[in-house]
Amino acid sequence: MQTSRQDVKAPAGRRDSPVRAVVLVGFMGAGKTSVGRELGRRLGWPFVDLDDRVEAREKRTIAEIFRSSGEAEFRRAEHEALRELLKEVERGRLVIAVGGGASSRLENASLLEDSFTTTIFLDASADELWKRCCADRAERPLRRDEKEFRQLYASRRPRYLEAKFHIDTAGKEVSRVASEIEVSLGLKEQPSDEER
Ligand code: S3P
Repeated sequence: MQTSRQDVKAPAGRRDSPVRAVVLVGFMGAGKTSVGRELGRRLGWPFVDLDDRVEAREKRTIAEIFRSSGEAEFRRAEHEALRELLKEVERGRLVIAVGGGASSRLENASLLEDSFTTTIFLDASADELWKRCCADRAERPLRRDEKEFRQLYASRRPRYLEAKFHIDTAGKEVSRVASEIEVSLGLKEQPSDEER
């Protein structure tokens, strides 16, 4: 049976709990890993990239999983890795970056909603995301042609917009984006002059 996000409610008290973990969501090229690393450094919280966890669990790269087992198998591994990672949130603070397809899947959105995490959408235009992905040498199985990339982004965007905070990354340095997240979380008053 397909579960909708409304079907799975967070246990009483969890929704208003203090921030335990920050989860950066957004499309490929949004800068989730770079910003996550910088944010973790600033807050003194460990940074975890969900894609790295998937690769460690499966003992092969994401590209290899897609190539030899297909996307469905990758999604299964991604969901299991997220479930395990969220157990760690119960024990301490974390900054987490999830792959571009993770948060837009209902089963993962429900896990996130049911956890002590605060989701942050790192936004940019499809043009900018495509340019960043082309400039970056990382192998991305779902960055094939531009038209498909744009369609996938448009189909996922409504889900990303459900994140608690929305940060526009266009033309901003990683440090500026990390600083804006700190402000959104109430952990800092305003970005410093150098970060503007
Ligand atoms: C994916 C994005 C990738 C990675 C996998 C699938 C997606 O992560 O999880 O290739 O579905 O958009 P990044 O968003 O970090 O590139």
